Formats: sequence, structure tokens, C-alpha cells
Amino acid sequence: MSRVAVVTGASSGIGRATAVALVERGYRVIGTSRAPDAIGAGAVSGVEYRALDLTEKASVEAFVAGLDQVDVLVNNAGESQAGPLAELPSEAVERLFHLNVLGPVALTQALLPGMRQRGYGRVVMVGSMLASFPMPYRSSYVATKAALRGFAVAARFEESVFGVWITAVEPGQVDTGLRDRRTKYLAEGSPHTADFTTFLAKLDEQQARGITPEKVAGTIVTAIEARRPRPLYAVGSNAPAMFALRRLLPRTVLERIIARAYGLSR
Ligand SMILES: NC(=O)c1ccc[n+]([C@@H]2O[C@H](COP(=O)([O-])OP(=O)(O)OC[C@H]3O[C@@H](n4cnc5c(N)ncnc54)[C@H](OP(=O)(O)O)[C@@H]3O)[C@@H](O)[C@H]2O)c1
Repeated sequence: MSRVAVVTGASSGIGRATAVALVERGYRVIGTSRAPDAIGAGAVSGVEYRALDLTEKASVEAFVAGLDQVDVLVNNAGESQAGPLAELPSEAVERLFHLNVLGPVALTQALLPGMRQRGYGRVVMVGSMLASFPMPYRSSYVATKAALRGFAVAARFEESVFGVWITAVEPGQVDTGLRDRRTKYLAEGSPHTADFTTFLAKLDEQQARGITPEKVAGTIVTAIEARRPRPLYAVGSNAPAMFALRRLLPRTVLERIIARAYGLSR
């Protein structure tokens, strides 16, 4: 019998590519979207689409209630957000935490007991390399991805003994169009206007040169199919070299390198 995989945010980008890869490998894939009926031509043949809005508790509960057996959960859906911390509306920060952290955590909590009972499970949290390489104007996003990794790498100790492995996959820059959907907040007349504008232009430029979502999907499949998945997989943005530099260089030097790479006046 084929394994059942849930991929959140399967309507585009990394989630869609992961759904394609898992269908090709024989999984029964349940993909989510806030509006499954609107996916249209982007729908992947063989994927069963269901509605899920991770910012709505009732939607998460209804989605979970409709599930039977789930062997693999890919917590992929997410929002990219940018803005100076001092100017981020609290509703925006709360929405981001519901979507990027609390929704995926609730979903994981609901599905872990069944995985444990069946003695097999894989949970992949799609984080971001930004959790290890923080950038200015991304504090809310960085914080959500760091939180997600925290849940993954800590809880894996609890569940791996039952054959259930939780792992984080952290992509660098990926060319998915996420940048066009990024929510941005900047107050009128903000003292950050010049740096924020320069930073976003560089960020968009780098994301357009990013790796493909298919490459990230390949890493997610590797994490799912490993006998003992690692706590963390990083992919894109020269991850091996960047993590080596992070180990070698003082944090302040790394901060200056990041600021320079994004054209900031530091
Ligand atoms: N692109 C990058 O450079 C990059 C780098 C590092 C990490 N990541 C992470 O990778 C993941 C996927 O990103 P992507 O680039 O593939 O983005 P994307 O193409 O914009 O896909 C985001 C997905 O999230 C879903 N989604 C949005 N709001 C939602 C909500 N309230 N409830 C449930 N689902 C929702 C969307 O589905 P619907 O709109 O159909 O609901 C969509 O399928 C995200 O967690 C992102 O943070 C991306």
C-alpha cells in the first residue's frame, strides 16, 4: 500500500514541486491550498487537493478531521514578509506566526499520534536559511523560521524512538515567485526608506537567480526517504560554504558581509 503524504501549500512553488516528486515516487498525495478550486491548470495530476487556511483554527481542525492515515507531512505553506521591526503592524506579525509556525505545529501535533501508532512517520518543516543567516527587514520572517526549526530539532528526540522523524529543510534563495507575494510594510516617511528599498531590490534580484523549486523538492524527498533523516538539510545559496563560514567567522564579521551583500549603509 502506498504511503500517504500531506503537502501544505501545494498550489505553487516548492509545495507544488514536492507534490509532483512524491506522486512520481508512488505516494498518495494530499495537497492543500486556501482555494483548491482555483488552482486550475496548475493542478498536478494525481494530487488530491483539499482546502486549508493555516491562519484559521477552524480550517486546520476541519482539514485534520477529514484525514485518515497520514505517513508523511510536509509543512511547506508559508508567507514571506518584510519591513522594519518598528513599523510592522502587530496583526501582520500575528498572521505570519499563525501561518508559518502555529498552524504547522497544530497540524503536526494532530498527526503525530497516528504516525507513532503505526511506527512510521516523517514530518518535514520547510524553514529558511535565513534562520541561520538573519537579515535586516526580515525579523518577523526570520523569527518564524527559527521557531519552526526549534520545534523540529527539539521534538525529533521525542518521536524518533517510535520511527517518526521530524526534520527541517532550509532553502536559501529559490526562484518561485514568492517575492511577488511577499507582504511589505514601511511607514510613510520612514527613516528606513532608502536602506529598505535598496535591500528589497537586491533580495528580489538574488531570489530571481535562486535555485529551482524542483531542487528543493529533491532535498525534501531525500529527507523523507532517509532511514534516519538528519535534523537539518540546507539547500541553495551555497549552503555548504555559507555554513562553513558561519562556523569559522565571528558573528559580527558575518553581519558585515551580509550587510555589504545587500548594499546596506553599515
Ligand atoms: N522561495 C524562496 O526563496 C524560499 C526560501 C526559503 C524558504 N522558503 C519557504 O518555502 C515555503 C514555500 O515557499 P514558495 O517559495 O514555494 O512560496 P509560494 O510559491 O508563494 O507558495 C506558498 C504556498 O503557501 C500557501 N499559503 C499561503 N498562505 C496560506 C495560508 N494562509 N494557509 C495555507 N496555505 C497558505 C499557498 O497556497 P494558496 O495560495 O493556494 O492557499 C502556496 O501554495 C515557504 O514556507 C517559504 O517560507 C521559500
